[in-house]
Amino acid sequence: MKWLFAPLALLSLWACSTSPGATAAPADAGLDDADAGFPCDATVSKGPWVLHVDGTSAIVRWETCRAGTPLGVSYAPEAGGARLHATAVESAFVVDRTLKNFSPIPDYAGTWYMHDAKLTGLAPSTCYAYGLDADGTIRARFCTARNPGDTVRFLAIGDTNPALGFSTRDILKHTVPLGFDFAMHGGDIEYYDSAIETYSYWFELMPPLLRGGAFLPAIGNHDSDDQTGEPNDKYEQYTERFWGDAGFDGANEYYAYQTGGVWFLTVDTEEPITQGSVQYQWVQTELAKAAASPGYRFSIFYLHRPFLTCGDTGDDTAALAQLQPLFTQYKVPLVIQAHMHGYERFETPGLTLVTTGGGGGNINDVNANTSRSYCHQRVASGPFYHAMMFEITPGQISAKAIDDQGNVRDQFQHAVP
Ligand SMILES: [Fe+2]
Repeated sequence: MKWLFAPLALLSLWACSTSPGATAAPADAGLDDADAGFPCDATVSKGPWVLHVDGTSAIVRWETCRAGTPLGVSYAPEAGGARLHATAVESAFVVDRTLKNFSPIPDYAGTWYMHDAKLTGLAPSTCYAYGLDADGTIRARFCTARNPGDTVRFLAIGDTNPALGFSTRDILKHTVPLGFDFAMHGGDIEYYDSAIETYSYWFELMPPLLRGGAFLPAIGNHDSDDQTGEPNDKYEQYTERFWGDAGFDGANEYYAYQTGGVWFLTVDTEEPITQGSVQYQWVQTELAKAAASPGYRFSIFYLHRPFLTCGDTGDDTAALAQLQPLFTQYKVPLVIQAHMHGYERFETPGLTLVTTGGGGGNINDVNANTSRSYCHQRVASGPFYHAMMFEITPGQISAKAIDDQGNVRDQFQHAVP
């Protein structure tokens, strides 16, 4: 089963490059299941996706179910230019147990093979189309970091659950074709706890997002929701294996990404983020470093569990109060949060906070805690599936919350340096 929706933009952009795609290989290379010990009939079992992008380099990552598949990535600027080729490093990874769930595609125990291709010498502020030698049908793209002051476009989504109905898939149909440099995920990337989902099924359904631009995940509580008992090692077996090394200057759980003079910082809300914590110290250091960087404009903070919400989850006003002076000092005008399954926007003095947790998990009660003291600052909200499209231009951030039917449910602008 393969996802059939491929953004026309991607296909046409690839066609516009001066060279054809990578060497074609059949999707089914005639492999049987005997060697792997589980069904293994696709040359590429998961991916590809792109992490750790800066102005001149990027990592292309994918998984195969057996060793020795072609290791090359072919790529060229979408606007035209020479086609280049990079070779991946293959590494074996042992998954320790099978998780079937009610998914049509279990996550099988066994040895899987990760591939990382480091693309270097790229041109800044340039979008590339790429393909894999291992599967000539795959077409994907990413953009290198923009030059300071250039327009930056990104998609933000949280709490995806593509196996649960069609909500995630419908959101992507209406947002991915709008185009973006990278997709930010607010965490709870995959839900074993929804009973219907496995990572194998997730990867069958999410190529539209993964192939539209680089992926920048935040870590949520469900990114370690292992159903199989102790030890709970979903984080190591899946989350870290797939999304580790996403950004810079931090760790897998908290890191920074810079494009266009805008720094994006994420922290892991399963770990402490208040004053005195490792993550707080890192935020303080990273924001100071960002502010001292040539071309610095401002920073955007994104995290899973919300600082503020009037919906049916907890909040963390203490952490916000402690981080607020840093946000003011180092110019952080926007916080993107998730976890509460719905949409919210708060306007506080100098700081906009949005909750974009309607990425596909069951929508919950967005009004369960409207008595919280700050809820008068909530200026928009709703119990709907959605993702957000952001555009950063000189002097302004523009944002739209777009639902699974393609309707714009909220939009706002925020003046920025
Ligand atoms: Fe969550």
